[in-house]
Amino acid sequence: MSELAILGGSKTRTEPYPAWPVWDQRDIDAVTEVIKSGRWGGYPYPGPKTAELAKKFAEMQGGGYAVPMANGTITMEVALRAAGIGWGDEVIVPAYTFQATASAPMAAGAIPFIVDVDPNNYCLDPKAVEKAITPKTKAIIPVHLGSNMADMDAIMALAEQHDLIVIEDCAHAHGAKWNGRGAGTIGHFGSFSLQSSKTLTTGEGGILLCRTPELAAKAASIIDCGRPHALGGGEEDSTQEFQVGSNFRLSEIAAALALVGIERFPAQAKEREAMAAYMDESLSEIKGIRLLKRDERHTTRSFYRYIFAIDPQEFGMEHDVLVGALDAEGIESWTGYEAMNNYTLFQPHKSKLAVPNAFPEYFDFENMNLPEAQRACEHEAVWLDENIFRAGPKGVDDAVSAIKKIQKNAAELNAAAEELRKKYK
Ligand SMILES: Cc1ncc(COP(=O)(O)O)c(C=O)c1O
Repeated sequence: MSELAILGGSKTRTEPYPAWPVWDQRDIDAVTEVIKSGRWGGYPYPGPKTAELAKKFAEMQGGGYAVPMANGTITMEVALRAAGIGWGDEVIVPAYTFQATASAPMAAGAIPFIVDVDPNNYCLDPKAVEKAITPKTKAIIPVHLGSNMADMDAIMALAEQHDLIVIEDCAHAHGAKWNGRGAGTIGHFGSFSLQSSKTLTTGEGGILLCRTPELAAKAASIIDCGRPHALGGGEEDSTQEFQVGSNFRLSEIAAALALVGIERFPAQAKEREAMAAYMDESLSEIKGIRLLKRDERHTTRSFYRYIFAIDPQEFGMEHDVLVGALDAEGIESWTGYEAMNNYTLFQPHKSKLAVPNAFPEYFDFENMNLPEAQRACEHEAVWLDENIFRAGPKGVDDAVSAIKKIQKNAAELNAAAEELRKKYK
């Protein structure tokens, strides 16, 4: 009988990891209060809960003018539009990210210019950015991935030199800090998702942090059907002109939930950070595992997903085999995102999207050379869920024991790998 759960043995962890999102009576009371008030929606924008959320979120990140909206995809489209970026402009995005980072520029009419990531942290590589800048480049969207932050000093220096707008995709980086400055307050914009899996959530939602009150007023107008808004994104200002906009407002019910989430956030973030430090220590003993490198300027880490890399040769198996076996052991894990050139959805001949069809030369995915993103997505990356880091030291110990057990039984697992791949595909 095999020791491995995936081959019929017993699981390392039988108890489920803590559920997400966390909720208690405070969430019920907050939603009930909004329901009883009769002010459910986001119109007129911002409602009282939305305005309070904007204030508290900017305080939490340590700066900027916050404009809450429908999700963390529209935030990036709105940022580009507020900055006057659109048709035919190039926007540099990393090759290893959720597809929204590239689809948002296309929704604004801009071209996502896909560049490779730094193998040390899987975030946008400033050297690749520098090479990609052309006279058509108007913006850069660095993604702070998993629990890492892109090199904001290098990216901001390039942006200043070439007069580019920087939109930090902070969907994974609530509470993170770079040189003591909050993620999303370093670039011209910080885009945050409040979608269900995120570490601050309201089910669906997003917040755009803007560097200036003028940009925030524009963003608020774009998401409120073009109605003019006061500087900072506050109330409607009928003395100003309308612009083209649509409805991407956040509902008051969602804002109320986010306000309770903000109260809980510091303790949760602290716990995840402490447990992740323990995980670093434990994993560093295992042959074939490479921890991603934390930049010393990344002063506060925030954990959406804990990502590490394996050397398949040295570790003894490919990352998909490890992840399949880990899941069976009761440790929730994932091989992570596809490299952007594997996303078929942007291919001109498959999509009727305006941008890929108008500029197909930017979407020649078969000939794109993105070795670092491809290595991460095809062989190396292992993503651990955030709840592993909210289950005390035992939560981490179980994950580490499972990894060791799987590595010890590599030969048996590799022999079964082809069959397992077919079964779990
Ligand atoms: C890196 C990244 N950017 C953007 C988004 C989009 O956020 P939303 O789902 O709120 O639209 C997500 C996740 O969903 C993400 O992981």
